[in-house]
Amino acid sequence: ALIVRHHVRSSRRWVKTAEILRELEEKCATPNTKLKQIADAMTVEMHAGLASEGGSKLKMLVSYVDNLPTGDEEGVYYALDLGGTNFRVLRVQLAGKSGIKSQEFAEVSIPPQLMIGTSEELFDYIAAELAKFVADEGDTFHLPPGRQRELGFTFSFPVMQLSIDSGTLMRWTKGFSIQDMVGQDVVAELTRAMKGQGVDMRVSALVNDTVGTLAGGRYDNKDVVIAVILGTGSNAAYVERAQAIPKWHGPTPKSGEMVINMEWGNFRSSLLPLTEYDHALDVESLNPGEQIFEKMISGMYLGELLRRVLYRMAEEAALFGDIVPRNLKTPFILRTPEMSAMHHDTTPDLVVVANKLKDILEISNTSLKTRKIVVKLCNIITTRGARLAASGILGILKKLGKDVFRDGETPKTVIAMDGGLYEHYTEYSKCLENTVYELVGDELSDSIKLVHSNDGSGIGAALLAASHSRYIEVDGL
Ligand code: GLC
Repeated sequence: ALIVRHHVRSSRRWVKTAEILRELEEKCATPNTKLKQIADAMTVEMHAGLASEGGSKLKMLVSYVDNLPTGDEEGVYYALDLGGTNFRVLRVQLAGKSGIKSQEFAEVSIPPQLMIGTSEELFDYIAAELAKFVADEGDTFHLPPGRQRELGFTFSFPVMQLSIDSGTLMRWTKGFSIQDMVGQDVVAELTRAMKGQGVDMRVSALVNDTVGTLAGGRYDNKDVVIAVILGTGSNAAYVERAQAIPKWHGPTPKSGEMVINMEWGNFRSSLLPLTEYDHALDVESLNPGEQIFEKMISGMYLGELLRRVLYRMAEEAALFGDIVPRNLKTPFILRTPEMSAMHHDTTPDLVVVANKLKDILEISNTSLKTRKIVVKLCNIITTRGARLAASGILGILKKLGKDVFRDGETPKTVIAMDGGLYEHYTEYSKCLENTVYELVGDELSDSIKLVHSNDGSGIGAALLAASHSRYIEVDGL
């Protein structure tokens, strides 16, 4: 009788598990017709965001970058990249047409408590690391004597730019929340902190990582007009016609163009396939109601969505036995790199999945059937994210009129891609790329290209620091 009862319980368990799985699959579905509607909604919001400040959830921020790198940039420049779990410092020696002569960088992880502390603590920490980096400049890099060092500051949050080298933080996104910083000029804050550390450096360009990636991408390939970041957060920037930005009242740029930082992470639409897990994640996040698109597609959240589904399966279907594993209750314990490792597990017994479940969640003795379910969940969540990101790209292509095939001329459209999620989560990037091609159709598949721009945002910021150097007259660039 005992055995029979156990059997009954166990089959109930699988029935319930399958039910939750099926429901998730249905809710996360992203058929092409839907993705095209979402792309259209994105295009509509782009127009609204460009029409007036605050006209849309999409901020469509004017970057003050109206000229992308030409390849003529010369000299030693620094870059500082802040915006994810790590920050990077970089120095490059640019040698005009001969390209980048040398480059060095250092990467430091940001202590989590600094992300939710005070601006002073965060910037003092950054400036101290920068000071160390500057101290070992050595003589590979040739900075003319008496010349002040210049820096491109990549700050990957929504910033209302006041000029190319100043701007105020509108709000934090991702895992950051430092209230005294909101509304403040981030360049002034960095400059203060650098002074305090004895670093004599001028910030000559303040850019978003998408804008940096666009600049770095353009340096390598003149057909780059869009940049997309898929990392901790997600966002895109692209080259817009100045004429198409009604809210821009500044002088018309000579180039006739202006780079727009979309802040697409904050896109939302009733068309988005949201689930109960998304709602709960949002409500319990540091920024409820905001960055809804980002919460469905970016690296900070995919693992957390997986955890939430597993938790429900543990509770309602006893997927891991009668007791809900304790660690499964901890938000953000399951990180996306771990999820990616499980998703890519090619061992017949899914050993990687077994080990991750054991190491991270302290769940041992899982059956192969259970592990297969975990992989299925990874696939559902990731596929939805990647396909939605692809629909965002289609939205930009539509806005630029580059989504339709024109006989006779086949202008190339290159999209510079970067971010840890794109770089390391192969299933994600493969799915994203395939979906972009599915959506634009065969005729355009030769003219649209996605390229990985490795640390383009750092180099891009250094390049923009060069083209906005205070010594530009002297150098005659
Ligand atoms: C978040 C930020 C945005 C950034 C993106 C990628 O969405 O708000 O500025 O570009 O993350 O890092």
